[in-house]
Amino acid sequence: MSSKQDDKEKKLDGLFDFIEASPTAFHTVSSVKNVLKEIGGLGLKKHEAWELEEGKLYYVSTNDSSIIAFRVPEKKIHSFMIAASHSDSPALKVKPNAQIESAGLSLLNVEKYGGMLMAPWFDRPLSLAGRIIIDKSDGRLESRLVDIKRPLCVIPSLAIHMDRNVNSGHEINMQKEMLPVFADAGAKKDLLKFVTECMGLNYENDDVKVVADDLYLYDASPACRCGADEEFILARHLDDLECVYATLKGFEQACLDMDKTDIMPILAVFDNEEVGSMSKQGADSAFLYETIARICEKLGLSKEDYSKILASSFMASCDNAHAAHPNYPEKADPVNRPKMNGGIVVKYSANQKYTTDALSKAIFHKICQAAQVDYQEFTNRSDMIGGSTLGNISNSHISLNTVDIGLAQLAMHSSMEMAGSEDLKDLITFSEKFFKTKITNLEESNYIVE
Ligand code: CO
Repeated sequence: MSSKQDDKEKKLDGLFDFIEASPTAFHTVSSVKNVLKEIGGLGLKKHEAWELEEGKLYYVSTNDSSIIAFRVPEKKIHSFMIAASHSDSPALKVKPNAQIESAGLSLLNVEKYGGMLMAPWFDRPLSLAGRIIIDKSDGRLESRLVDIKRPLCVIPSLAIHMDRNVNSGHEINMQKEMLPVFADAGAKKDLLKFVTECMGLNYENDDVKVVADDLYLYDASPACRCGADEEFILARHLDDLECVYATLKGFEQACLDMDKTDIMPILAVFDNEEVGSMSKQGADSAFLYETIARICEKLGLSKEDYSKILASSFMASCDNAHAAHPNYPEKADPVNRPKMNGGIVVKYSANQKYTTDALSKAIFHKICQAAQVDYQEFTNRSDMIGGSTLGNISNSHISLNTVDIGLAQLAMHSSMEMAGSEDLKDLITFSEKFFKTKITNLEESNYIVE
């Protein structure tokens, strides 16, 4: 195997491990922290005073489900280079008092989180992960991550013999048809007791009373390569863990390489993109703005310095893009039709659902050129609305030149998603170059990119 091929395989293995360890937004943030700690990242707490030192790498999280990491430059800050992605994916969320008995089986009462495709969730090995809050006897409320890891639940399809017309189109009722089987009702398994015991805690112990939970089901099938030449990958949550992982690896490389710089690379991973970002930790919150303002204040910069820095700063809003579907080619734009393994996708929308404009596209183009990576272009068909993402929402809090990019994939928001095995390395290479790029605002809409 050539060393280039070997490097690509290592990156894919790294992505698969990252996805395996990140079944929920809470776990994604924990996985990001683990990588940052390995390269010397220091955790800041929102409720404590910050001391920032030149050349050091820091991160701060909120709700354990969104995180911002940055490196303090050695020189007075010239610009921020921000890459944003999202930690959450569509899933089935377990409701309170979840257990329902039917036909001698114990089912879980679940609801949809985000705009998922529902059909793929049937007849799959589903596992359970999230967080539980423990009421300690000393009055403390403590949050703990939980991941059962093994196949636990199944949503069984109704046999064809009982609905002969099912293949002619069937509307799925979330409340009636999608309750997963958790246990034999005779076993009288209590869900929270089961979860607590899986974590090695004694449920009967007064010191570990579980008082609340945020638990989600996820597809427990492992990520894999596929295609005649293994040119594709199949994995859960590629939207948007592929972008989280690629920008994180690029951030890591850039930080290890930077010295005596005046650029501040910032990695932002937000929760709740799949439900519109409007939460205390989403891209529509003040988290990014407040964090950057706090950094500037700690570094002794004035409000005017902050505004001057923003004028030369740039954001890449990174969220996966739709490849043209081979069985539905008519659903894609006649010309701008991304293909898996065709390079990074830059996304446009006239109504600003995507932030890319001529200026941010030109800056993106220069960075791709410098990084020697290919890109391709995406627009929706003019008669389709399409999706939206982080960039325009974040821009309503911090006004920045922003480009919307991602990697081409199929089956977006299915329980397993498909992408190209060649594209990940390109986004990592791009991200590393991106974080080190110096953009200077000369006058209105005139820039130097170096
Ligand atoms: Co997404």
